[in-house]
Amino acid sequence: MSSKKIKVTPDSKAVFHPLEKEKTQPEGSKAWGGVFTESTDRRVELFTESISYDRRLFEADIRASIAHAEMLLSIGILTVGELAKMKEGLLEIRREIEENRFVFNIEFEDIHLHIEHALIAKIGDPGRKLHTARSRNDQVVTDMRLWIRDALDRVDRRLLDVQSAFVTRCDADFEVILPGYTHTRRAQPVLAPHIWLAYCEKFERDRQRIKDCRKRVNVAGLGAAALAGTSIPIDRFKTAELLDFTGVAANSLDVSSDRDFILESAFCLTQIALHLSTLAEEWILWSTAEFNFLRLPQSFCTGSSIMPQKINPDVLELIRGKTARVAGNLQSLIVLTKGLPLAYNRDLQEDKEPIFDSFDTVETSLTLAAPLVAGTTLNQNVIADRLDKGYLDATTLMEYLIMKGVPQRTAHGIVGKLVRSAMEKEVPLTKLSLKEFHEFYEGFDYNVFSVLGAKNAVEAMKSYASTAPEQVRMQIDHWKQKIEREVLDGTETADSEN
Ligand code: ARG
Repeated sequence: MSSKKIKVTPDSKAVFHPLEKEKTQPEGSKAWGGVFTESTDRRVELFTESISYDRRLFEADIRASIAHAEMLLSIGILTVGELAKMKEGLLEIRREIEENRFVFNIEFEDIHLHIEHALIAKIGDPGRKLHTARSRNDQVVTDMRLWIRDALDRVDRRLLDVQSAFVTRCDADFEVILPGYTHTRRAQPVLAPHIWLAYCEKFERDRQRIKDCRKRVNVAGLGAAALAGTSIPIDRFKTAELLDFTGVAANSLDVSSDRDFILESAFCLTQIALHLSTLAEEWILWSTAEFNFLRLPQSFCTGSSIMPQKINPDVLELIRGKTARVAGNLQSLIVLTKGLPLAYNRDLQEDKEPIFDSFDTVETSLTLAAPLVAGTTLNQNVIADRLDKGYLDATTLMEYLIMKGVPQRTAHGIVGKLVRSAMEKEVPLTKLSLKEFHEFYEGFDYNVFSVLGAKNAVEAMKSYASTAPEQVRMQIDHWKQKIEREVLDGTETADSEN
């Protein structure tokens, strides 16, 4: 019976159909044919396949196979001629997949078996040597490590783009003072670039985390074979070097059983998504008619099918919303690996969809966040007109008293009463007379007006990392230099300092 080909496209998940029991494989087409006397049930093939989603590992799989083959040559398992054929065949398969000419067939389960099968079909017997001293268990770990390494580098670059978008707007927004909030209540005034750089710091820690995670991702597992290693004298250090891994995993059972590098990556992505969701939430609020602090670029908004006036912040809402699936993916991976005994278990195949989805989601969100940050404008007049609301200068006034020798608790009480009195008169603190100040504390002098009002309060700041203009200026300069260096150095990968 001839094999029935099923075309699995990137967006077509194989559909399980309970009645589809048809035997599809020709005898001996499975990599494990020998011991079996029955062919695989069609429903099992549909249930166990991963080709519909692990096909995206093809490039990593071929890269790893070529390195493995070169190592097999160095220990005398392959001849120079066999290696040449193997490389040629593998590169041809890569082209076929890239150009959508490769036929995927559910019988061959996953990307590893597809490529090996296609190689044997192309070059015959030499292809049958590729799987020497290798198992799909170490192969899949190797592919995932290579794929994630590249993906982490891409995410790092996207984070740099978002940081760069924030830093680029710092000069133009330097004079803008915004209310800073705690509990979503007006608290103290802050310079707009101080807010922009707060996000840069968050994304910087995300980048540091990626860099650190990458060290543990970038370890070679190839050669661990199924679980116990191999009696063939392979050179694991050679394949590690060929694939640019910086370390070689020291325990074959550990290689075969663990996916902690995937969970760690999923956490890094979750933290990025969480940071993005804070930005999204803040800017959704700030772009409402109620706040009206900023105007989002219309090219990043969508309208309503019924209400003609609506300009909705859907991109930000989806960035916020997609955080749920990224966090959910992390949760799935945690539950997936809980309680799995050593070493490989087929459960681990379920690691792919969540981690691929997290990378795809976060990469897309970052790709949209950068131009959105760059294209948003601050409604400076609206912000300035309402800046005397909320007694943003009250804390600085208290600190003025502390510097005059008043104990903090006493100063807090005095300013609290002053604010209460100003509230009753419905005026800001700047509108109180010195006489009125004296009603609450004799020691006030005219200097008090130099710390009142949002601008004075910002300028009165002294501490390192505060919103004081000179502090913010210093931070902007630091960030500009850093971003310039990194953008210029765009080819540098995250672990090049290892
Ligand atoms: N597709 C499998 C996975 O992702 C590859 C490893 C299969 N190994 C096995 N012994 N069945 O986990």
